[in-house]
Amino acid sequence: MKKIILDCDPGHDDALAMMLAVASPEIELAAVTTSAGNQTPEKTLNNAMRMLTLLQRQDIPVASGNKTPLVQPLATAGNVHGKTGLDGADLPDPDFQPQDMTAIELMAKTIREATEKVTLVVTGPMTNAALFLRVYPELAARIERIVFMGGAMGLGNWTPSVEFNIYVDPEAAKIVMNSGIPLTMAPLNVTHQAQIMKDEIATIGTINNPVAQAFKGLLDFFEIYHENPKWGFSGAPLHDPCTIAWLIDPTMFESDLMNVDVETTGDLVKGETVCDYYELTGKPKNTDVLLKIDRSRFIELIMQSLKSFN
Ligand code: BDR
Ligand code: CA
Repeated sequence: MKKIILDCDPGHDDALAMMLAVASPEIELAAVTTSAGNQTPEKTLNNAMRMLTLLQRQDIPVASGNKTPLVQPLATAGNVHGKTGLDGADLPDPDFQPQDMTAIELMAKTIREATEKVTLVVTGPMTNAALFLRVYPELAARIERIVFMGGAMGLGNWTPSVEFNIYVDPEAAKIVMNSGIPLTMAPLNVTHQAQIMKDEIATIGTINNPVAQAFKGLLDFFEIYHENPKWGFSGAPLHDPCTIAWLIDPTMFESDLMNVDVETTGDLVKGETVCDYYELTGKPKNTDVLLKIDRSRFIELIMQSLKSFN
């Protein structure tokens, strides 16, 4: 069983990642920390707590992270995730309190109390992860790996060459990428293969439990943004759940180990993840980059996970 901390900015696909982690017998979700990204920090915290209430896992400690990225002002994605950050379903109000500590304090506490190394999963901007590494450098060795959704090899979804999570906080991403901790990256190249189709969302609607019913509404909403023909999608890309799916069953993916760094200057490319696919730099191969996913096994995992709730 893998002990993980999920640092997220829910967000429809973050919520689905959380659901997968809670449903999986191979994963112990030890803590949830929230970042500012898809929506304001107040909204992402509230969404994480609403989701844990829906999942009936109010026992999992939650803490809110930094209010802004390290250097630049916060950019949010209400155009993708709606006004609340989780539009499309009537989620229950949280019926528990967040921890009386910051996200990085909760990360430190969780890691200190663990008898084994902890995996940090980041599905939003990397602000909290970077701050954690700066404030608690002595705990870096207790992190088994950082698995994150972010970046791309030659693609962008926020600017032509920049993915949203890295766009929001490139300086934080640079700190994490250069931390020396083993990294697994789910870039747009793989998450754009992880699409859920409309008929599969309809099938989720036939699963008779409150969790599946809520995700039916959430995914209907999330799908609409991706219908624009400019993307060339047939469904909606489930970015963030790729991280948890990889932890549950890495054989679902094909990956390549390479050096990845982040550009933090330049009008056109600030936030671009520079992936040294052809080993041109000779720099250490710090990142296992996920490049292919078996989409049908991924969707099957989501379906089975949703069916596991009462
Ligand atoms: C990433 O940006 C957010 O909108 C999603 O939650 C995901 O983490 C995709 O670029
Ligand atoms: Ca996210």
